[in-house]
Amino acid sequence: MKIAFIIGTRPEIIKMSPLIDEVDKRGIDYILVHTGQHYDHEMSQQFFLDLELKEPDYNIGVGSNTHGKQTATMLKGIEDVLISEKPDIILVQGDTNAVLAGALAAAKLHIAVGHVEAGLRSYDKTMPEEINRMVADVCTNLFFVPTEETAVNLLLEGISPQDIYITGNTVVDACYRNLKIARKSSNIISQLELEGDLLSLTLHRAENVDDRERLENIIEALLNIDNVTIVFPSHPRTVKTLKKFGMYAKLEKAPHIKIIKPIGYLDFLILQSHSKLMITDSGGIQEEAITLDIPCLTLRYNTERPETVHAGGNILVGASTDKITKNVSQILNDDAMYRRMKEALNPYGDGNASKKIIDAILDSYQQGKLEIKPPENITANNLKKLLNVDESITVAEFEAKHPEYDIDIVFDGESPRFPHPDLSLEGKSIIISY
Ligand code: UD1
Ligand code: UDP
Repeated sequence: MKIAFIIGTRPEIIKMSPLIDEVDKRGIDYILVHTGQHYDHEMSQQFFLDLELKEPDYNIGVGSNTHGKQTATMLKGIEDVLISEKPDIILVQGDTNAVLAGALAAAKLHIAVGHVEAGLRSYDKTMPEEINRMVADVCTNLFFVPTEETAVNLLLEGISPQDIYITGNTVVDACYRNLKIARKSSNIISQLELEGDLLSLTLHRAENVDDRERLENIIEALLNIDNVTIVFPSHPRTVKTLKKFGMYAKLEKAPHIKIIKPIGYLDFLILQSHSKLMITDSGGIQEEAITLDIPCLTLRYNTERPETVHAGGNILVGASTDKITKNVSQILNDDAMYRRMKEALNPYGDGNASKKIIDAILDSYQQGKLEIKPPENITANNLKKLLNVDESITVAEFEAKHPEYDIDIVFDGESPRFPHPDLSLEGKSIIISY
């Protein structure tokens, strides 16, 4: 069996790394295809070094461009690689343009698509990432979702539970594995001469940094915060727009703000674990913060990671100067609130997501599920109906008793649930396909 990993940006390299390690460990054949969307040393190569990954077998070298041009170049480049390499499955991760291009290229070639971190939804189609996630999921065959909440998003879009694997998020695997290494090797805190309470900031989301008013509001809040040092490893996109809008110098001059270049993953893990609070619009950092027990304020109006908010570890503050400053001050001064946020339970699993994903891929391969072929049976029916179950029976028992029915989703009162095989159906409603 052969797996093609498609990667393009910093977070994809990080979150794919435990899967690459797992595939390496099991001696499975694989290729790494880098789209080249991130190309600066500190946005790409640094992570290959930190995570001890082999060099990509292919680099499409797409660089920066408009979404259409960037995606089109990736689509063509990935298609060429897939035609010559003929993998059994491609893996894409997350919601970048590489995910859209990779999933689409493979689906059109009838190559199985595994989407790691499938099913996340912000329900905000102005975000390029939401379009990428949704289109990629249309092309996906195996959906690797981090939580049951995410699985339910897919069930409500009509995806069969048989294609959904609830695995946790590989971000936890990467965090646990690399924190131990980072503690020994990183000296970022002394190198930056950091003392006292630290607050770490990252900012790169298009809707924040390309919008002058929102960026100005965020910067104003940061300038208002006192009694802490704010460390700001700045994404190249953000540096560019801060300079364009004439805001960079203001930030640079503020004595409590330390703008630095993006740092490596090991250094960033140490910086996060020394921080009292993360302020971010990053997807991955919302997940890492709750994994590392660091409270998080998210500079967004919505999130495709609502589990972090429901767990109590993350607060959405948008780009509102007032909300940012009030929440920072409250978290830093109210011990009970700080402790509650720190103690929020991590919804993203126990660090075994990559093992579960590779197990599911191997199992699907053995069952022939990765062979994408046109159907051979004539199926006129594709009907659905709602049933109320009053007998004492589990999902697995119900499906064994009614082989003509597949359970799509279970409703426990008003709450949609994933049909786990051992879930009791007594007193619940189900939607079935037959
Ligand atoms: C991309 C992803 C985003 C992800 C982020 C991770 C899409 C649509 N966006 O956003 O979902 O959260 O990566 O960091 O796929 N640049 C450099 N050097 C680099 C890379 C980028 O200078 O190595 C600059 C260029 O000016 C470029 C800008 O950053 O135009 C934006 O880069 P791009 O890859 O388009 O999007 P990101 O903001 O990085
Ligand atoms: N990260 C890093 N160095 C930095 C900033 C972030 O290593 O200077 C890591 C961080 O640990 C996380 C990932 O980059 O795993 C998040 O990437 P980013 O915020 O760029 O993308 P997103 O997750 O929003 O797609």
